[in-house]
Amino acid sequence: QDHLITATQLSRDDIEAVLDRARAVADDPAAYADRHAGTVLALCFFEPSTRTRMSFDSAAKRLGIDTIDMGDVDSSSVSKGESLSDTVRVIEGYADALVLRHPSEGAATLAAENVSVPVVNAGDGAGQHPSQTLLDLHTIRENHGLDDLTVGIMGDLKYGRTVHSLASALTNFDVNQHFISPPSLRLPRSVRFDLHETGAQVREHEDLDDVIEDLDVLYVTRIQKERFPDENEYHRVAGEYRIDADTLEAAPDHLSVMHPLPRVDEIAPDVDKTDHARYFEQAHNGIPVRMALLDTLLENADPDADEGIEVDR
Ligand code: CP
Repeated sequence: QDHLITATQLSRDDIEAVLDRARAVADDPAAYADRHAGTVLALCFFEPSTRTRMSFDSAAKRLGIDTIDMGDVDSSSVSKGESLSDTVRVIEGYADALVLRHPSEGAATLAAENVSVPVVNAGDGAGQHPSQTLLDLHTIRENHGLDDLTVGIMGDLKYGRTVHSLASALTNFDVNQHFISPPSLRLPRSVRFDLHETGAQVREHEDLDDVIEDLDVLYVTRIQKERFPDENEYHRVAGEYRIDADTLEAAPDHLSVMHPLPRVDEIAPDVDKTDHARYFEQAHNGIPVRMALLDTLLENADPDADEGIEVDR
């Protein structure tokens, strides 16, 4: 069964196949309408979400897929103490695929081991968020292409799951990556290990000014307050990596500023009016990219389908 659990499992071919399909979906959405009528997608969110939950819901409906939503943890039987494995084993009987967000790293892997329908990891704690990465890559590709690039990733690199997935996926392309963060929020050891395994260099900086002139893309992230075991530690780093229109005067004209959103104060509103701002376009790209992803996973799950694109097995 195909699942999308981690970006480390995506090859360049896998990524390009989904992004090519996302481009085709964006060019001609009507050709994809009702393609999967009669199928059901379960949305299982054990943590808050606006973009991921709603864009999967919207993407599914645009493909003719019905959606069922587990609802908030407080209104589901999780609040009675039901385990994750029991919960997903029940839900697989109600749906043809499952999108899961959970506060624990490894939750999507556990879910995939317990069900026989495709599972998409929509964020597992501070682990991975691979469908976000696909829409990030789509946004980069549509604006810059995906080779011969210099990308800066800034903010909470320790707890930021979108960072972990994006950094890994970018190793499939000819991209120089620079990581900008306070010392306490550098990339975790497991992510560094994965990057080193691919031969990628981990270039780290504390100051954006060191690299801003060289960047094609600046990917800014929120400090993940909810992941800090000690709130005092959060307050020590909160607000340190904030950019505004003045910050970007040193950047090349073509620089794209991206952010997975939600933002708190790390990108000042005056950046929204500049030609650098890509974060709302990025969020909207969740529709064609998640349509392409669901289309691929459901096509591969259908034994009668005569073509398929491998996402992960
Ligand atoms: N980017 C992202 O995952 O946003 P949500 O938490 O709103 O889904």
